[in-house]
Amino acid sequence: MANTILIGAQWGDEGKGKIIDVLTAQRDIVVRSQGGNNAGHTVIHRGTTYILHLIPSGILRRGKVCVIGNGVVIDPVALVAEIEGLRKLGIAIGKNLLISDCAHLVLPYHRLLDEQRELGKGRAKIGTTKRGIGPAYGDKAARTGLRISDLMQPALFTKKLQAKVRENNSILQALGAQTVSFAEVNDAYLKAGATLRPFVVNTVVYLHRALQRGKEILFEGAQGTFLDIDHGTYPYVTSSNTTAGGACTGSGVPPHRMDCVLGVMKAYTTRVGEGALPTEDEDIAKMLHEMGREFGTTTGRARRCGWFDAVASRYAAMINGIDELAITNLDGLDAVDPIRICVGYRLHGKHLDVPPSDAAQLDACEPIYEEVRGWKTPTGAARKFSDLPLRARRYVRRLTELTGAKLRIVSVGPARAQTITL
Ligand code: IMP
Repeated sequence: MANTILIGAQWGDEGKGKIIDVLTAQRDIVVRSQGGNNAGHTVIHRGTTYILHLIPSGILRRGKVCVIGNGVVIDPVALVAEIEGLRKLGIAIGKNLLISDCAHLVLPYHRLLDEQRELGKGRAKIGTTKRGIGPAYGDKAARTGLRISDLMQPALFTKKLQAKVRENNSILQALGAQTVSFAEVNDAYLKAGATLRPFVVNTVVYLHRALQRGKEILFEGAQGTFLDIDHGTYPYVTSSNTTAGGACTGSGVPPHRMDCVLGVMKAYTTRVGEGALPTEDEDIAKMLHEMGREFGTTTGRARRCGWFDAVASRYAAMINGIDELAITNLDGLDAVDPIRICVGYRLHGKHLDVPPSDAAQLDACEPIYEEVRGWKTPTGAARKFSDLPLRARRYVRRLTELTGAKLRIVSVGPARAQTITL
């Protein structure tokens, strides 16, 4: 599989953290290329739960180098807290972490603006993580953002920050919102910058040299296909390219160096935040929440849940060029019978086999289901595909066939061992 782009094929929270952790064993380098600390990857190992927001999940394995690429937006204070938290859990962080000098910064005024924009939208709110991600990428696109390279030059950073705080405080004041203290932000960010300095490099050059030496890279996607700023359910999306192309732009590694795209999808569907979810089902949500599953890693919000949506997964396979699939959370359906699979949408009497681009039209789509029998047996102890009950195997094969990619991994629980590789 060599250089692999791993992406979420649904609305995020597909269980990517665990799959990344498993695949990292066979890679040298793991790269994050988009998003910020809106992401939350959970990895459970030897009874300890590790939650990662900015640092690639590869950090948990010795001898692997983790890179935070140019496409990521970084809150340096949050990143320092994450490094310290991992160190307290016994994870060594030193030469195994590299941060791009081109990555943009998330600042406290971005978070306040994120909150204000959500309040201003009222019922039409996006349901963001309130981590300031949209406003930070907004500054990047407007060419007014501050970058890690600015933070590495304290006098320059202070000067640029002063202007940015003045500009953003006047907006916040006009909105009747809390403003930020320039002095406090300046101190906190310079302090965080000093801690991060040893990790900061030109990661593009590092990655290209590593490729020349034959190193193998895993590009770990954050969020999911339908949260992509271009291809997702706009405007109910995040502000980065969560699809496979984002791995190239967000790392500086060109497309022809990529060998494989691995799509991760749950055996059912979930979404946090607002926006259409055609297969949403209250009973499935209730059952999963009662099992203690499907609460957000970053915000703790209960996720919305529904049946597997093959219209969406087929489209995700198209946009990302998914070669191989990892199907996660199969065990979440152990008690469900019958199980529904959405194989098409009906919109105003018309049959659709691709999702409409317009958010309101997607919202109006009615799913067309096929029904299969559940296996009603715990699957968490399965270690080989043949250990799974026949109906579970049939279900997984059906999802794969409808999506149009090769089945590579089935995950039946959060532990590393609960992973079936085909
Ligand atoms: P933002 O990225 O905080 O601006 O949020 C925009 C949308 O993306 C909201 O619906 C969030 O719930 C969703 N979102 C952002 N990050 C994640 C994630 O890591 N998993 C799932 N949903 C996410």
